[in-house]
Amino acid sequence: MTPTLILRNCTLADGLADIAIEDSTIIAIEPNLDLTAPTEIDCAGKLVSPPFVESHIHLDSALTVGQPRQNQSGTLFEGIEIWRDRKRTLTLDDIKHRATTALKLMASQGTLFVRTHADVSEASLTALQGLLAVRDAVKDWITVQVVAFPQDGIYGGPKNDDLIEEAIKQGADAVGGIPHYELTREDGVRSVHRIFELAEKYNRLIDIHCDEIDDDQSRFLEVVSACALRTGLKEKVTASHTTAFGSYNDAYALKLMGFLKSSEINFIANPLINITLQGRTDTYPKRRGLTRVKELWQAGLNVSLGNDCIQDPWYGLGTGNMLDVAHMAVHVCQMTGLEEIDACYDMATTHGARTLNIQDSYGIALGKPANLIVLDSGDKYDAIRRRATVSHVISRGQLLVETVTPQVTWQQDVG
Ligand code: FE2
Repeated sequence: MTPTLILRNCTLADGLADIAIEDSTIIAIEPNLDLTAPTEIDCAGKLVSPPFVESHIHLDSALTVGQPRQNQSGTLFEGIEIWRDRKRTLTLDDIKHRATTALKLMASQGTLFVRTHADVSEASLTALQGLLAVRDAVKDWITVQVVAFPQDGIYGGPKNDDLIEEAIKQGADAVGGIPHYELTREDGVRSVHRIFELAEKYNRLIDIHCDEIDDDQSRFLEVVSACALRTGLKEKVTASHTTAFGSYNDAYALKLMGFLKSSEINFIANPLINITLQGRTDTYPKRRGLTRVKELWQAGLNVSLGNDCIQDPWYGLGTGNMLDVAHMAVHVCQMTGLEEIDACYDMATTHGARTLNIQDSYGIALGKPANLIVLDSGDKYDAIRRRATVSHVISRGQLLVETVTPQVTWQQDVG
């Protein structure tokens, strides 16, 4: 063994150890490793974790807040209208520049795996082509999956159905959808069937924006679940948002939960954005507008987390930091028990890897690709509580980013 990089004194899930990396692969994990390497980093007992996984983001609209105007109502639907205007001016360079800037921001905070949606409702497919180009350009330091996402609905325009199929032919990794935004409920159901047909035809993953609305009658999740079960695609299928699940009556929710367990699909919650977008038509009590994260997790279903937006027409804030997302999930989902807080961390890491279907090459284990992060924290709970600085990002065995933790020095003796 001839390590190229060694991380010493790492706090891992099962205790303190050193990690040796040769080129881009983890070759040893043991306490007090009797090896040397040209580069060694003393982690001094800090938490060393697999990188964050951003399960759900829209890189095509990232960093466009205020263009051409602000979202005054704060609703999903005004956001869609603003984006419809903004996307008329999209160019490949515009997409590539903003997406790469956002990816660098995310990677600098420990995210090395990303699933982005690309709006494929425009005849030019500029957003898709820009994001596919970025996916290929950054692949040596960050992994990006692109979902063909029909923002205006598969049946919302005469050419949209052809456009999503063309997007898949051009190289999208997953088929998306938005059944609750189709013109009728029947169109919504039909769109889900079409998504599964395309995924089977082209051997793609599925990630559907599903029931992102407070309407307790928006019930496309049951259609997605049934299709996943009948086609056998199961863990290749993800339902994003599913915020209406937070408004379903408990009798229906109980029945649905049983079906969901059989279907084994993945869920993605986006707590930062949905706590702000949803509940806008409520007076008081005002709903939280999130899916049933804690109950899905307790039922053994795979739930992961996403930022969804960084400064775009739907959410003008956002830093791309997955610890911000996990922190908000702890609060909004009331997952404040220690095991629950740890689970929120896992939703931003290992659960995300399952959603992206990359778990075989993800994680800190012998023979796996050397992707890992060092946090200025001793454990997951503290990392979320303080939204700890990620001091080192190791990508493909190389030190990609180093960040110095802010130091506080009192200048006065205040007792
Ligand atoms: Fe989204």
